[in-house]
Amino acid sequence: MAKTILKLGNLTKTYIMGENKSAKKALKAIHKLHRLYEELILVDPKKAAQIEKRLNKSQAYFCKEKYELSYKAATGRALKKTKPAKGVVVHALNGIDLEIKEGELVAIMGPSGSGKSTLLNMLGLLDEPSSGKIFIRDEDVTAIKGHRLPEVRSKELGFVFQSFNLIPTLTALENVMLPLKYSKNKIVSKRKLAEDALKKVGLGDRLHHNPNELSGGQRQRVAIARSLVNEPAIIFGDELTGELDTKATQDIMKLIIDLNKKGQTFIIVTHNPEVAALCKRTIHMRDGKIVK
Ligand SMILES: Nc1ncnc2c1ncn2[C@@H]1O[C@H](COP(=O)(O)OP(=O)(O)OP(=O)(O)O)[C@@H](O)[C@H]1O
Ligand SMILES: [Mg+2]
Repeated sequence: MAKTILKLGNLTKTYIMGENKSAKKALKAIHKLHRLYEELILVDPKKAAQIEKRLNKSQAYFCKEKYELSYKAATGRALKKTKPAKGVVVHALNGIDLEIKEGELVAIMGPSGSGKSTLLNMLGLLDEPSSGKIFIRDEDVTAIKGHRLPEVRSKELGFVFQSFNLIPTLTALENVMLPLKYSKNKIVSKRKLAEDALKKVGLGDRLHHNPNELSGGQRQRVAIARSLVNEPAIIFGDELTGELDTKATQDIMKLIIDLNKKGQTFIIVTHNPEVAALCKRTIHMRDGKIVK
């Protein structure tokens, strides 16, 4: 049985635009209760369990846009009536439960605005969820303190985006060495690791080229090499073949399937059904929820 590499429990992300005082207050109360829960879970599991119940109840009301009831469930007090809300509350992620095993190759699909990028941002520790939990290799990453995040992110996670995000003034090799910032290796071994990653993606003969001297597909290979170099638990891709033509897309997918066969876990967001068809499992999202 493959080990679980990623687990999500009731993950939510809410954006409050404009003035919706009730929603803001309820969300604040949820956050406060959540912090209390985190503090108690080790020292007083019994009390923590009670708080978890209140927390779940409050979150459930919040998702149904019943902010007064949500506030009451979290605090035990009634929320003073405020003026009718003018703001918009966006439930970008609305209670996501998901488990992903080591070695999976997962596609995430869904209409524009369904929450795919938001989900990826949460999983990639680029932004904080409003509530819920994320475990990577059994570690609760939602509990990691801010100052440790960049290190955990760079050691455990790899990213490949639609627009490559390479630094134009650095060579392919130097771009791939970037995530090794936190590694304790000497500079020569960092160089070697980056070189090996570029060889893996078939760019052993392009080490010293700058991004503008490479084709779109080659640039995306550099981005993949950069995401691989730390041997991350998971590599995330957001529309990583979005800017490539059919041939380059097929080549990149071949590379990903190859790396996946060697054990690398991938989660990729795509609008392209042909890309999704090449993945072992497809998750469909709609309105911030997983529907299939
Ligand atoms: N920073 C933000 N502030 C407010 N609302 C946001 C923010 N980011 C995303 N949203 C909203 O959250 C919802 C989900 O957005 P998200 O970017 O995750 O969609 P997506 O599935 O990636 O769409 P696409 O396929 O177009 O990339 C949208 O309704 C969007 O308007
Ligand atoms: Mg998106």
